[in-house]
Amino acid sequence: MEIKLRDAGAENLKADLLVLPVQEKQLEGPVLRMLDRRLKGKLRERIQAGRFTGSEGSLLLYPTSGMLRSSHLLLVGMGEGKELESDTWRKAAARARREAASIGAEDIAVFFAPEKDPEKTAGAIVEGMELASYQFNKYRSISKPLAAVKNLTLFKPGLKRSALLDKSIKMVQASIPGVYLARDLINEPPSITTARFLGEQAQRHCRGRGLSVEVWGKKKIAAMDLAGLLAVNQGSQEEPRFIIVRYKPSGKAKKKVALIGKGITFDSGGLSLKSAKSMETMKLDMSGGAAVIGAMSRLPHLDLNIEVTGYVPTTDNLPGANAQKPGDVIRYLNGKTIEVLNTDAEGRLILADALALAAKEKPDYMINLATLTGACVVALGTEVAGIFSNHQPLVNQLIECARESGEKLWQLPLVKEYRDALKSSVADMKNIGGSHGGAITAALILQEFVNGVPWAHLDIAGPAFAEQDMAVCPKGGTGFGVRTLLRFLSTL
Ligand code: BES
Ligand code: MN
Ligand code: ZN
Repeated sequence: MEIKLRDAGAENLKADLLVLPVQEKQLEGPVLRMLDRRLKGKLRERIQAGRFTGSEGSLLLYPTSGMLRSSHLLLVGMGEGKELESDTWRKAAARARREAASIGAEDIAVFFAPEKDPEKTAGAIVEGMELASYQFNKYRSISKPLAAVKNLTLFKPGLKRSALLDKSIKMVQASIPGVYLARDLINEPPSITTARFLGEQAQRHCRGRGLSVEVWGKKKIAAMDLAGLLAVNQGSQEEPRFIIVRYKPSGKAKKKVALIGKGITFDSGGLSLKSAKSMETMKLDMSGGAAVIGAMSRLPHLDLNIEVTGYVPTTDNLPGANAQKPGDVIRYLNGKTIEVLNTDAEGRLILADALALAAKEKPDYMINLATLTGACVVALGTEVAGIFSNHQPLVNQLIECARESGEKLWQLPLVKEYRDALKSSVADMKNIGGSHGGAITAALILQEFVNGVPWAHLDIAGPAFAEQDMAVCPKGGTGFGVRTLLRFLSTL
């Protein structure tokens, strides 16, 4: 998709689809009036007949029948509010993208007159279009690819290009392939996305200036004492992998960051077997790992002066004959022990290894992403990820970056009183808490392995996977986290 910026009025623009964002009940704006005059009052009639008010998410598509230079006009409702959030623009663009596909429009022009932050808004529009263009059709015998959009023009009389505007658009274009990669990895069937496959994909996609990949097999994992990963892997026929992706800048690094992603390629629960229903989407359980690989793969395109290491412990969680059993105890490389009372609480078991290992390198920050608990989905639903941390400035910054990316994070507390719920009769802790506050007790277990390093844990169990089509993403893996991570890294 080629992006153009044009100094032009709506009447003069030639496109297949002319997109006009309209705020709720502001149907008297000068541009709309002018277009209505051109269309001989017919547009106003359609607006009234269709009861289009500009409420957020509403659309009105109008074929101009040669009365404008553009063949279709699309009014996109932006909802109320004096200042539109960048995510409102992102979603509006995503909806326009789908509408464009329905009429086979290759050239889209968006009237671009945001009241504030034109840079952020331009980025959000491009991002919305790109995110909505994603499809995963590889396993359909009859697939209808979305008609490609070739040109996207942002226009307004007097619009000028600026270095900031270009930068914002470039940042988006650099990030999107990372989101696509994460979505692809999640959407692949779980018997394709095995630990080995994930390792190969990391090697294939994390290439370029400054990047290197190491993939450890079972022997090396044992030699490195990654006991949690080995324990979870015991019930599987597939070998585990421990993936490490390193990014080193050409100059001296200003900061060192570790990203850690849960890579359970399928979560059956193990011997503490899940129900058939809750297993349906459990290929999503490597979404944290996919986000880390997706983000790492784009670092050479962002040219940042920081060192970043991505860690992805990966295996499936199956109840094979040699599977770990409730009551088993795992001894970790930092000396701590965990009694496994529920083999379905496996994410924390493999993340504990990775956090302990990452902490040894003394990074400035550690950020882990994991589809960790159903409890977090109960608490925050499917649009919002929980964030837990031992370092408030890190939380604040991540929440701000997420907000700008249209990925919602909400802080949940590390309630130290709840550590009592993790007391084990034989080990330092057990791997499950009581019946309440499951997202918190899971986070408390992770905290035992960070060794005081400033750390944030994102429980992405809700937003990692769209159970139905959304504006910015079809049903399936969302790639949640990739854009927030890249935005965060670029602020350091
Ligand atoms: N992968 C699941 C969490 C999950 C649930 C992700 C729903 C996405 C959607 C995790 O491994 C799990 O099974 N957690 C258990 C923990 C419990 C046994 C303490 C859960 O949430 O039920
Ligand atoms: Mn589980
Ligand atoms: Zn899991």
